[in-house]
Amino acid sequence: MAGPSRLDGMEGRAAFVRAHTALEPVPMVDGIRLYTASEVVPIWRATEDWLSERGLGVPFWCVPWAGGQALARFVLEHPETVRGLRVLDFGTGSGLLAIAAAKAGAADVRAVDVDPLAVAACALNAAANDVVVDVACEDIVDGNPNADVVLAGDVWYELSASARFARWLRAVSQRGTRVLTGDPGRHYVPSHARELAVYDVPTSIDLESARSRRSRVLEILPPPPGASAE
Ligand SMILES: C[S@@+](CC[C@H](N)C(=O)[O-])C[C@H]1O[C@@H](n2cnc3c(N)ncnc32)[C@H](O)[C@@H]1O
Repeated sequence: MAGPSRLDGMEGRAAFVRAHTALEPVPMVDGIRLYTASEVVPIWRATEDWLSERGLGVPFWCVPWAGGQALARFVLEHPETVRGLRVLDFGTGSGLLAIAAAKAGAADVRAVDVDPLAVAACALNAAANDVVVDVACEDIVDGNPNADVVLAGDVWYELSASARFARWLRAVSQRGTRVLTGDPGRHYVPSHARELAVYDVPTSIDLESARSRRSRVLEILPPPPGASAE
């Protein structure tokens, strides 16, 4: 692997993404191609030390996750969900939801992730799909999403993070922003949500221990009357 001087910074991160992935179609989502790791375990092992030395997490950006694929498919099948609206892709990873929203006719698309490599992957993937996405490396939880619609693909896999996301996204929904998530049955998905669609998403055994995952598209609802968003 090349040394840090060549790989640090935005250019270096983009080179890192390209070196470990190939541009591939997304199984559930026609018309979108992403820089994808064909085998996930080798890239995780190969990059673990390099990533941890730089305080970066596991490369969630190197595959389109099942929940994200279901939500991207839904957005493209129901473009009225985002058409002409300001969309935020929260926890963008590869940028799949942001790209789907742009293709479906969103007026303005932003994407955020806390992983700088995800930001590089999202930028590369947006360019590869000929769409414009304003992507930033920031944690905006508890802030104003400045969007009409928030899309959150497959973010319900850690207890404390999910509790934070759920509290924030319920409050966001209460203030009038539509919040949609895609979830393949992760442990910490919020229960107070409306099911909009269900898809069987093809997955790999090494990633999900299954050949397919039933994935739901959910609308996160405001807290019931009398309850707080907590
Ligand atoms: C499993 S991946 C899903 C990626 C993509 N949405 C998809 O469905 O393919 C979850 C992503 O959430 C990001 N994430 C975790 N905590 C976050 C936070 N506080 N703010 C923004 N992104 C976050 C991770 O870095 C990771 O890229």
